[in-house]
Amino acid sequence: MSKDVQKQRAAEAAVDLVQDGMVLGLGTGSTAAHFVKLLGARVREGLQIRGIPTSEQTRILAEKEGIALTSLGDEGKVDLTVDGADEVDTAFRLIKGGGGALLREKIVASASDHVAIIVDEAKCVDHLGQFPLPVEVVPFGVRVTYQRITELLGVYGEGEVNIRLRTDQFGEPYVTDSEHLIIDAAFNKMTNIEGLASSLDSMTGVVDHGLFIDLCDTLIIGSDNGARKLDKN
Ligand code: A5P
Repeated sequence: MSKDVQKQRAAEAAVDLVQDGMVLGLGTGSTAAHFVKLLGARVREGLQIRGIPTSEQTRILAEKEGIALTSLGDEGKVDLTVDGADEVDTAFRLIKGGGGALLREKIVASASDHVAIIVDEAKCVDHLGQFPLPVEVVPFGVRVTYQRITELLGVYGEGEVNIRLRTDQFGEPYVTDSEHLIIDAAFNKMTNIEGLASSLDSMTGVVDHGLFIDLCDTLIIGSDNGARKLDKN
């Protein structure tokens, strides 16, 4: 069965977590898009929720689906966020940001009472790092930041680390919704994930990064036969 069917199954299971009156964080990416479409169908049947999109792409989709939108400024907190991920390990740590929305995704997830991550089976790994880690940086001084990140990654990666500035389909630097750039770092094997996250957190010029630690409460893995729901703790 295709990955897309597994993504759809995971999204279907996540819709079961939604209750009337909730403020929902709406994730970004192809798996989250399945969820937003299913949510739209429920809204048209009478479900009353308000959504906070984590990207312009998701905002456009949610509006098309007729989902009422709100903002973190208006709500202060979020009842439930449903989002995808690029990799998930057995400790529920994630790599996110393949779609470029990691900053808003992390802000919304960190303001949420509950975060459910929906993935297909291929996203589940023993060791994070095969998927390149996105690091969001400010454009000013990017060359200096790039060099600092290169040096840091040598400390936290085993073997070769390849880093590159993300480009768009025209070969131009990819610009995020918040007008930053993204540096993607491909590891052979990532070591000391918490240490790497905290070093990136404190690096000047880095806005945020795609390591999501202690932010996933429920993992929903779509499979050929349905979906498995795993709660942390
Ligand atoms: C968006 O920035 C990402 O964090 C996505 O959640 C992640 O890339 C998963 O995307 P897919 O669901 O398209 O695989």
